[in-house]
Parts: sequence; C-alpha cells; structure tokens
Amino acid sequence: MLDVRGLRKVYEGSGRTVEAVRDLTFSVAAGELVCLVGPSGCGKTTLLKCMSGLLAPTGGEVLLDGRRVTGPPPGMAFVFQEYGRSLFPWMRVGQNVELPLKQKGMAKERRRALVADALESVGLADAAKAYPWQLSGGMQQRVAIARALAYEPQVLLMDEPFAAVDAQTRADLEDLVRRLWRERGITVLFVTHDIDEAVYLGERVVVLSASPTVVQEELVVDLPVERDQLNTRVQPRFAELRTRVYEQIQAAKRGSVSAAPGAPGAGVEKE
Ligand SMILES: Nc1ncnc2c1ncn2[C@@H]1O[C@H](COP(=O)(O)OP(=O)(O)OP(=O)(O)O)[C@@H](O)[C@H]1O
Ligand SMILES: [Mg+2]
Repeated sequence: MLDVRGLRKVYEGSGRTVEAVRDLTFSVAAGELVCLVGPSGCGKTTLLKCMSGLLAPTGGEVLLDGRRVTGPPPGMAFVFQEYGRSLFPWMRVGQNVELPLKQKGMAKERRRALVADALESVGLADAAKAYPWQLSGGMQQRVAIARALAYEPQVLLMDEPFAAVDAQTRADLEDLVRRLWRERGITVLFVTHDIDEAVYLGERVVVLSASPTVVQEELVVDLPVERDQLNTRVQPRFAELRTRVYEQIQAAKRGSVSAAPGAPGAGVEKE
C-alpha cells in the first residue's frame, strides 16, 4: 500500500543544511497498523510530510498503491503533531471537522452525520459549536483526530497525536485507533516516541535511527489482536517487546555518537 524507497530529505536554507533523513526504505501493507518510533529530531515528522506529499523528497520516492506521491493523495488523512496550527480558529469545531467533507463534495445530510459521529467517538459531542481556542490542548487534538476520522480515509498518518492529552484520554484514544483500524480496515502509520504506546498499538514497530535517519530495526508485535489496557500491558511478551524496542532506540542514539559528533543524541553514554 505504502512504499518508502530510498527516501532522503535535506533541508537547505539561510546557510544551514540539515540532512534530516538519509536513506529510508520500508513499506506498510494495506490494512496494516504500523508504529514508527525514533529519537527526537530523527526526522519522523519530515518523513510523514514526505509521505503525505506536503514536502518534496530530496531523493528516493514514496509510492501509494504503486503510484508516486507528488501531492496530498485523496483517501489519505493526517493528524499533525502541531495541533494548535492545524485547526482554523475562525471556524467552529463542527465546521473544522466538516471542511474536508465539503471539499470532497459530499451531501449536507451525510456530512452532518459523519461530523456528529466523529465528534462522538472522540468524546466531544458537546463541543461542535465551540471555537478551537475555547478548548484545552488535548481537546483540540481530539478535534483534529475527529476531522481525520470523519474523512473516512483509507490511509491514516498520525504524528504523535496523543502527546498533549492526559493519560486517561490517551488510553481511550489508543483503543479508539485500534477499534477503527479493526472495524474499517484502514491502513495506519502512527508515529510516537512512547515505546509502550508503540507496542500496545502496533502490529509492527519500525525503529528509526538518530539523524541522519535510516531504519534501525523492524519488529513484529506478536501480541493477540484483541488488546486491552489492563491485561495486554502486563503480559510477559509485552515486556519483552518493549525492552527490545527500548534497546534498539538506545542503540540508535549511541550510533549517532560515533557517526556524527555533535549530532542530536551526542552526549548519550558510549558503550
Ligand atoms: N523546515 C525545516 N527547515 C530546516 N530544518 C528542519 C525543518 N524541519 C525540520 N528540520 C530539521 O530536520 C530534523 C528532523 O526534524 P523532524 O521534525 O522531522 O524530527 P522528528 O523526528 O519529528 O522530531 P520530534 O520527535 O521532536 O517531533 C531536525 O534536525 C530539524 O531541525
Ligand atoms: Mg516530529
């Protein structure tokens, strides 16, 4: 479904050149739920922006269903890390969620139903008439999630979507993502720096190295499909998997010390 091949991204401007992503190759099958973890600054957001056609890669390519991505593909929705900048402050919550549906040319009746349904599923049924700036950070992020859900995407890219929500809501939203993934068969790529979250949510975890970024390791999460917050997290296998991911991330950080002194991750203990 999603194919990232030899992706490279170099930011250039005002005398500063940053090689954010060096050489990334991995793929996500149709209907798969993959989590992507990696050290801060390793290029996760950059990668998602390239995958969603918002940024042009410096090298390599992203294929969606075999076709090269050159702009935002229809059928793909994103939840950005910077939720504060992703909602229109002059539009009410309901209108924010409805906007992409209008752009899809969907009939009013159907739009209303989808908006109500999506707000309901993130626990914000009462907030439709509010303005985003009247809501807390976590609530705003849930609006952004509702907007992505209402769109009924085939592919959903999420960039640390739960970073700003409280632990309780976060657990609920994690279960919501799992449920939607199972019910709707959507393909999900979920970026997080929370190792437990990656293992709890994913069917597979892709660990990225520190910048300049390559794939450090890919790990199949062989936990039962049926997961719940209490039981799954205390299973021995869960602990094994999280340890494995943790070790890989540590290794990724150490790797950057020898590769590029002064790079993000430098100063982390050496072996
Ligand atoms: N627009 C930009 N111009 C120049 N450099 C950028 C730009 N956006 C990101 N970078 C640089 O690219 C690298 C990767 O940034 P990116 O935001 O993709 O990392 P990330 O893995 O998402 O980090 P985090 O976990 O903190 O969200 C960083 O060194 C960053 O400074
Ligand atoms: Mg980021």
